[in-house]
Amino acid sequence: MKRVQLAAVEAGFQHNNLVLLADKDHLDALDSQLAPGELAFVRQATSQEVSSFSFPRAEGVVFVRILKAEKDDYIALEDARLAGNELLGELRRYKIETLGIHNFCSENRALAFAEGLALGSYQFLKYFTKPAEKNLQEIRLSPDSASSSAIAEVNALLDAVFLTRDLVNEPQSHLNSIQLAEAIESVAREFGFQAEIMGKEKIEALKMGGLLAVNRASQIPPRFCVLEWKPEAAKNEKPVVLVGKGVVYDTGGLSLKPSEAMDYMKCDMAGAATVVGALAVAARTNLPVHIVGLIPVTDNRIGQNAFAPGDVITMGSGKTVEVMNTDAEGRIILADALHYAKKYEPALALDIATLTGSAVRALGTQAICYMGNAPKTVKNTLEESGFATYERLVELPLWKEFGDELKSNIADLKNLGSSNAGMITAGKFLENFVDYPWLHLDIAGPAYLRVANGYRTKEGTGVGVRLLYNFLKKQYT
Ligand code: BES
Ligand code: ZN
Ligand code: ZN
Repeated sequence: MKRVQLAAVEAGFQHNNLVLLADKDHLDALDSQLAPGELAFVRQATSQEVSSFSFPRAEGVVFVRILKAEKDDYIALEDARLAGNELLGELRRYKIETLGIHNFCSENRALAFAEGLALGSYQFLKYFTKPAEKNLQEIRLSPDSASSSAIAEVNALLDAVFLTRDLVNEPQSHLNSIQLAEAIESVAREFGFQAEIMGKEKIEALKMGGLLAVNRASQIPPRFCVLEWKPEAAKNEKPVVLVGKGVVYDTGGLSLKPSEAMDYMKCDMAGAATVVGALAVAARTNLPVHIVGLIPVTDNRIGQNAFAPGDVITMGSGKTVEVMNTDAEGRIILADALHYAKKYEPALALDIATLTGSAVRALGTQAICYMGNAPKTVKNTLEESGFATYERLVELPLWKEFGDELKSNIADLKNLGSSNAGMITAGKFLENFVDYPWLHLDIAGPAYLRVANGYRTKEGTGVGVRLLYNFLKKQYT
């Protein structure tokens, strides 16, 4: 099913169905849009502090949405996204397929409203045998509400977020390691970036002992995907490397997860899906930033051949790791990818992963847990992008003492700390494999939701795509 499109229309375009977006403090701005009878109705409604109502016109329905003024820009925009999403129920009830949006707010919030509406309209219906009902097809904005370039940018972001959500929602029965790598190749072709897929022999030649250990009990070989978007006009001399955890299914391995923690572990490649989404939107918008994406792909299984607690493995970097818990597999495959990233001498490497349950317990599903050694200026930009896209981040420390828990009696490192601050010890583990400016984003909380939260639809949310695009654009162009 085709997703809803944002479309630019000329000023004065006659809409059938229309949203009038207004500020509580500037209601008179609406007057010019209303017929005398409508004006009386609107006055009546607003005098009773009703902030959301609709009325019919001969050719369609007019929805009036009155938003509160907010002193923080980013909250004003988020209110608009959520208001957009909230309209969906009514649009479905009226079976509305096209909709115009007119901004009468003092700050323009029409595009954010459209973005929230579009993001909320996502559905993953592939495996229902019943045909889908017709959905909203087009959201129309005239130049006074959004420029055509801003509309094109949101369309590109929507494509990328929906792509990322689709990849996360696809179960491992239909998206194993080989299939994920193939899907990445076809996305690369469609959006216009490069993708090189390495098979098991290449991975062995690179001595990626971490990825190979995690893959050992699997029926399906691992993959290592190298993505690249290298525009001629790139503003950065050294590339930005994005690393995504691509565990297509995490049983926990021999440190087996209980069933209720396993039933949604198809989401354990959400970091990988976000990296694919970020490259897709960069290519689609011709972003002048040189980006490399690195994605180690495997599942984490049990079996005769499985790596086991107590094993010592040798990583791609040559460091040895005593495996204390096979369910802490994400850090093991990421470490090999982060080591591989050294050859690019990156301006920044940023890894993104559904890495720890402790990140979920600490911050829930609203915030991304992040840490790293990158300069303060880069962290500030990232946090600003977090607010701008409302994919907010909270920084945690990588103090040296947290690393003490990873000391092993018989190898360079253990892959497990104590039961405290598990998201930090995971970060400390990764720190052993980087020698460049680096950030680690743990998205275990916000990447996957059992129930929708506003326009963050249930299951894969695509978190990180809008964030990374906003960040790359702000920091490097
Ligand atoms: N894939 C999980 C983390 C996860 C938890 C992702 C919840 C999405 C939602 C990861 O591989 C894992 O199992 N981590 C363990 C680490 C522990 C054994 C140190 C965890 O957090 O429980
Ligand atoms: Zn695990
Ligand atoms: Zn995992």
